[in-house]
Amino acid sequence: MIEQVQNYIQQNKDRFLEELKEILRIPSISADPAYKDDIQRTAQVIMGHLQKAGLDLAEIHQTAGHPIVYAEKIISKDLPTILVYGHYDVQPPDPLNLWESGPFEPVVKNTEIHPQGAIFARGSCDDKGQVFMHIKAVEAMLNSDALPCNVKFMIEGEEEVGSNNLETFCRENKEKLSSDVILVSDTSIIANDVPSITVGLRGLSYVEVEVTGPNRDLHSGVYGGGVANPINILSTMIASLMDENNHITIPGFYDDVEVLDQEDRTEMNKAPFDVEHYKKDLNIGDVHGEKGFTTLERTSIRPTLDVNGIWGGYIGEGAKTVLPSQAFAKISMRLVPNQNSDKITQLFEEHFKSIAPDSVKVKVKPHHGGEPVVTPTNTPEYKAAHQAMLSTFGKAPIPQRGGGSIPIVALFEEVLEVKTVLMGFGLDSDDIHSPNEHFGLFNFYKGIETIPYYFYNYAELKKG
Ligand code: BES
Ligand code: MN
Ligand code: MN
Repeated sequence: MIEQVQNYIQQNKDRFLEELKEILRIPSISADPAYKDDIQRTAQVIMGHLQKAGLDLAEIHQTAGHPIVYAEKIISKDLPTILVYGHYDVQPPDPLNLWESGPFEPVVKNTEIHPQGAIFARGSCDDKGQVFMHIKAVEAMLNSDALPCNVKFMIEGEEEVGSNNLETFCRENKEKLSSDVILVSDTSIIANDVPSITVGLRGLSYVEVEVTGPNRDLHSGVYGGGVANPINILSTMIASLMDENNHITIPGFYDDVEVLDQEDRTEMNKAPFDVEHYKKDLNIGDVHGEKGFTTLERTSIRPTLDVNGIWGGYIGEGAKTVLPSQAFAKISMRLVPNQNSDKITQLFEEHFKSIAPDSVKVKVKPHHGGEPVVTPTNTPEYKAAHQAMLSTFGKAPIPQRGGGSIPIVALFEEVLEVKTVLMGFGLDSDDIHSPNEHFGLFNFYKGIETIPYYFYNYAELKKG
């Protein structure tokens, strides 16, 4: 059976790529209301593909925000059910001038890391390309009359803006969404010859801060020196959030951080990582981070604090001498088990206000958050992924905790009470969220080939 499925994939490879390009041409930017219609159109196109793939039910659920595409093929109540989750929305493509080809004009180009070609477009890797692998894998199984278990799809349009309406949808549709495992391809592997499975994600606490000094912009000569400059003050406040060891100074910030024992740390540092290559790729003179931890640890098992944007005052052409009234920044904190995003946001707010001098007023506006997750490796759900990747890559995948966040995963556990398997196929160097995002054709096809193995392995393991 699996041979027939793999043959089908080989014979239809070129069509799969052309179909993906069509999807990548629609600018489904969830953050910008101007793209509302494009989002709707993307949902329609995804639904159409699910119908054509042979799923029985494919429908669009409108929400208070962007729609959710749901589909299912139930072959027997006695068989296990795999729920595939992914997102069709994308990050804004800005800054546009740094793209070598249009963000919504997909083209295939060869790169050093992708000698067999990579498809360049916003969403190619995160996550339209990876969602499409699942649709094509299921199409291949259905066309070969070889789907070994039930399958459901839930593809949302708001992941990049916090998945708020998906949470409501899950709470209201527990029965409809009942499944044995949630399968997600929205993460990366270590390298094309080093397969890995993501076994953890960081949580997220995100705030916007506003510092107000004088009630209006002032002449920086007439008033400068006598009145607090909110940009100077904000910079000093932000700088004080980390000490000389790059340890975050917010009281209580580390209280709930899970400390890994030396054995676990040694194990995770065995994963292939070449710091020289890392530095060269990013064109940096040195790496940076919390004292006492390796780069692999800093980007997975340790929390962070980063300014994502900072603005205020005059940023136009030439020089304008102004002492601005206000300064702003967007600050993210990546969280690890067992930190809680609401608690961390509250600690941040209290601390940030407490360090502000009387010369300014401070506002802290919390944004969407998310909780960290760790997924088990001693389950049939994980083993199915391990065996699948072993079959198609010819190498055992390495379990690795990821640095990014997919906030809905923790809620799947809480609301649906189902564990997630994070079997992604991108590379960290694919420039997701950056200009020139791309997805290797090797990775795209490897994903389509691996997913049917997951289905077979899982159906088989659940029998025994
Ligand atoms: N797919 C990413 C998350 C990701 C990427 C996890 C690579 C692991 C490896 C997802 O689309 C994403 O970008 N999530 C956001 C969170 C969201 C609340 C905006 C993130 O991590 O910044
Ligand atoms: Mn994603
Ligand atoms: Mn993303």
